[in-house]
Amino acid sequence: MTTDKKHLYNFSGGVGALPEKVIFDAQQAIKKIPGSNISALVVNHRSQLCRDILDETEQNIRTLLDVPNNYSILFLQGGASLQFTMIPMNLWIDKKCPVNYMVSGYWSTKAIKEAFKEGSNVKTIWNGEAQNFTKLPTPDEYNIDKNAAYVHYCSNETVEGLQFATPLETGDVTLVCDMSSDFLTRPVDVSKFGVIYVHAQKNIGAAGVTVVIIRNDLLDNIPDNVPTILDYRPHIKMQSIYNTPPIFAIYVVLLMTRWLLNDVNGLLNVADLSKRKAEAIYDVIDNSNNFYRGHAQKENRSLINVAFNLSSSELENKFIEDAKNVGIIGLEGHRSLGGIRASFYTSMPLEGALYLKNFMLNFQKNY
Ligand SMILES: Cc1ncc(COP(=O)(O)O)c(C=O)c1O
Repeated sequence: MTTDKKHLYNFSGGVGALPEKVIFDAQQAIKKIPGSNISALVVNHRSQLCRDILDETEQNIRTLLDVPNNYSILFLQGGASLQFTMIPMNLWIDKKCPVNYMVSGYWSTKAIKEAFKEGSNVKTIWNGEAQNFTKLPTPDEYNIDKNAAYVHYCSNETVEGLQFATPLETGDVTLVCDMSSDFLTRPVDVSKFGVIYVHAQKNIGAAGVTVVIIRNDLLDNIPDNVPTILDYRPHIKMQSIYNTPPIFAIYVVLLMTRWLLNDVNGLLNVADLSKRKAEAIYDVIDNSNNFYRGHAQKENRSLINVAFNLSSSELENKFIEDAKNVGIIGLEGHRSLGGIRASFYTSMPLEGALYLKNFMLNFQKNY
């Protein structure tokens, strides 16, 4: 592979890129955390330094999202996938009441499967599978059970590139959201949610840590037979050091949140950038005379993951290879869907999107 050394833009959907500054600061911290004498790789979890890292990271997330005081923020392990299990284990107290799931794509399909392992009273309030997960419902297309223990949905389906514009309206029923792929890409009203969970490796850091934001009153009724490590309460009591936390991964989240606060200047700017990045690519797709075919219907397009196809898999492979030759990587679609996917997580600069746009225009001209 010959790459254009001037550019390297990583559009990968699974693990996102990180800003150069964050990678540089993380490298420095492997030698020594500024102001300390110790590498970020060997910080003891009972030390004051660890407490300071956790506290500042939590405070930065609170500031960025304006998280109300009656919510706790946890740093856990096990990825977003473990939350598929922990949510029903912790929040589904009375099995006579149903839990409600919105099935809008690959990841929410995974989530509901884990709920069924906790009980059979699981109601799918809407399922987009028949339409090959190309659209999301409008509020009149689904009903929420008034006595549901909670409603679970995924705000941004990473694989198909479908994004809910606003949180589901669930009235008094607890809303639980997998926000793994669009967390901190726009302001959200946290008070609408019972739980928000998100793994770090797309928008806020490196793999290894999962952030859970949970409304404190939901902790009151967690069944006592939940295994300790899977029970939110010990983690809250011990402020995320019930057991050894992934300190280096959390340190990278700290660097990312500092970058979002100080360099990007907050989530309104991130949201504006996300819009401009995604629009640049959708514009190419829409004006390509069907050369590029978007997966999601227009109203539900994600600003974070853009999934599309070309006329054949051969042409798609050529597209991916040619892109690599000019320093664009990570465009392979998810293995379940194939095609192309370009991901615009927080770290992707607008220039990256414009560079990809230009490549797409040239590729179309040539083929
Ligand atoms: C929206 C969403 N939820 C959950 C997951 C699974 O995350 P993890 O690999 O951290 O378990 C992913 C993975 O990409 C995802 O995009």
